[in-house]
Amino acid sequence: MKEWYEKIDSAASLEQIEEIRIAVFGKKGILAAEFAKMKQIPNEEKAAFAKELNEHKQKLNEALGMKKEELALKALEEAMKAEAIDVTLYSPKSASGALHPVMQTMDRIVEYFVSMNFSVQTGGMVEDDFHNFEALNLPKYHPARDMQDTFYFKDEMLLRTHTSPVQIRTMRSTTPPIRMIAPGAVFRRDYDLTHTPMFHQVEGLLVDKEGKVSFANLKFILEDFLKYMFGEVDVRFRPSFFPFTEPSAEVDISCVFCKGEGCRVCSHTGWLEVLGCGIVDPNVFEAVGYKNVSGYAFGLGVERFAMLIHRIGDLRSLFEGDMKLLEQFA
Ligand code: DAH
Repeated sequence: MKEWYEKIDSAASLEQIEEIRIAVFGKKGILAAEFAKMKQIPNEEKAAFAKELNEHKQKLNEALGMKKEELALKALEEAMKAEAIDVTLYSPKSASGALHPVMQTMDRIVEYFVSMNFSVQTGGMVEDDFHNFEALNLPKYHPARDMQDTFYFKDEMLLRTHTSPVQIRTMRSTTPPIRMIAPGAVFRRDYDLTHTPMFHQVEGLLVDKEGKVSFANLKFILEDFLKYMFGEVDVRFRPSFFPFTEPSAEVDISCVFCKGEGCRVCSHTGWLEVLGCGIVDPNVFEAVGYKNVSGYAFGLGVERFAMLIHRIGDLRSLFEGDMKLLEQFA
């Protein structure tokens, strides 16, 4: 029996343990053979013989179990060592993404108007003739439609040329008072230093009871907004024309490049045009069925703002996916 304890003790693998178990406890194992000897043993010795055998049986079983556990643990440790990952290994730094400068600028614009209690509205990029033109006081054959080179689909559907249709959609789906902005992409058939076929605008609209909204209100908020965006600049309003506003104005800021001295960027005028605005034309209110209201509206190009804030010369460079340029805004 003693040799079996030694065998168990020196077993080096789980396979060996299994072999020993079969050799000891199996049907043809040594224990079975020992118990078989009982028959030849004199009766008075039988009890002592059986007792000793049973003790061995129990002890061998315990020794096997303990050794098995020890070996299993060792095997696990070895497997873990073999599969270990060296976390100190060098790996190149992964680049982190960042918002595109146009989106950063858009966020800043939205942030200002949200702080002034304007809601943010959106509309579809595919519009119909009614919302993009007709309801905005741009009837068919109106010469102002030529200003906007439109991408047309069939059935009078088109890619919106400005965010102004969101004014119409919002007025038709709610009731005054309204304070809204509409940021989003717009499309025109244009491509040069200052025009791309897709760009972004933010539209603004405020509507309240008749006599409540004045040009002075519009002037105040836009001046405050432009100082928020560009810092200490001078702001001036120039009479202009838009079909959906009357009176209309274009708004200039003092040139951010030359501080109003006059340079190439501002064509030596000292001023940069940054947005269009006006008092909502009565025809627009009529088109949406509003009565006894007054309002102001404005619209601006987000890329133009981004270019002036970051001093970017060519609008097209914003859409080339050039990492050298974009990384500077991360
Ligand atoms: N929709 C005009 C454009 O795309 C911008 C604009 C001008 C919007 C005056 C307005 C506005 O709401 O009042 O050029």
